[in-house]
Amino acid sequence: MFRELGRLQGRVSIPDAKAATLEQPQGRDWRQFREGWLPWIGALAVLGMLLALFAFYFTKGRIRLDHTEESGTKIQRFNAFERFTHWLTASSFIVLALTGLNYIFGKRLLMPLIGPDAFATLSQWGKYAHNFLAWPFMLGIIFMIVVWLKDNIPNRVDVAWVKAGGGFLGDAHPSAYRFNAGQKVVFWLVMICGIAMSVTGIIMLFPFSATDINGMQITQVVHALIGVLFIAAILAHIYIGSLGMEGAYDAMGSGEVDLAWARRHHDLWVQQQEAKTASGPQIGSRGAVPAE
Ligand code: HEM
Repeated sequence: MFRELGRLQGRVSIPDAKAATLEQPQGRDWRQFREGWLPWIGALAVLGMLLALFAFYFTKGRIRLDHTEESGTKIQRFNAFERFTHWLTASSFIVLALTGLNYIFGKRLLMPLIGPDAFATLSQWGKYAHNFLAWPFMLGIIFMIVVWLKDNIPNRVDVAWVKAGGGFLGDAHPSAYRFNAGQKVVFWLVMICGIAMSVTGIIMLFPFSATDINGMQITQVVHALIGVLFIAAILAHIYIGSLGMEGAYDAMGSGEVDLAWARRHHDLWVQQQEAKTASGPQIGSRGAVPAE
């Protein structure tokens, strides 16, 4: 019997050392997860979030803007590079999410609908898309760290923002710098999940170079579980950034928001921006004006 460390393994003289493992009993547990647990966890997370968002929309409706309070003056919220970074990450994420869900549900849901041939072709392209779009996604995560990390360090203002219910309870608008506590949660979630998906994804893109068969299976479990939870969480972000809150999309679309809106939601950030322009060229030119 070749029983050794729970594997059925012998010795080989060919360069491919993997060939020495004849049977791997842990593979049964992995298959049980991949074919049994994962589709249920994925369906619960994604459908649960979609249901919750539908329920929120039909009971509370959109968060409306108060148009009477608009100042008509615009302030730039995100510059062109920040918007490029966001849409690079977002567009690659959406394809990664759809092709990723196809790995889990395609065989069960799509194949009976479109037939095995069309499903095979679609899944082949889906696999290429998943493998190659992982790179622009990872680049997007790196760019996000560069442009937004400094604005997402938690501070005392965030505690007050959370205590005030983020302005969702009552009419008060708690103070916030560039990002409020809710947005910081989104940022850190994208960072933690994005990095975890990247590391496990790279391990799987280069099979068996970093780890053995057991390690590959564990990597797949981590990638898939974080993946479905990440998708569910981002669905909430997409909802609030588009349908859920009137005017929110503009910040990432045109990059500009109304000054009155910015004062109400990000008062401390507007003050910082105003101080920056005030201490910019004006001071220099004011300094050059002789005192009267
Ligand atoms: C179609 C899909 C999406 C829409 C409509 C959308 C919309 C938005 C909007 C409007 C903002 C700016 C909020 C503000 O005024 O501060 C924003 C910020 C952000 N988005 Fe997205 N987004 C989408 C997809 C994604 C995806 C897929 C990711 C990452 C995987 C992502 C990550 C972020 C991050 C980290 C921020 C900055 C933090 C925050 O404001 O919450 N977004 N998004």
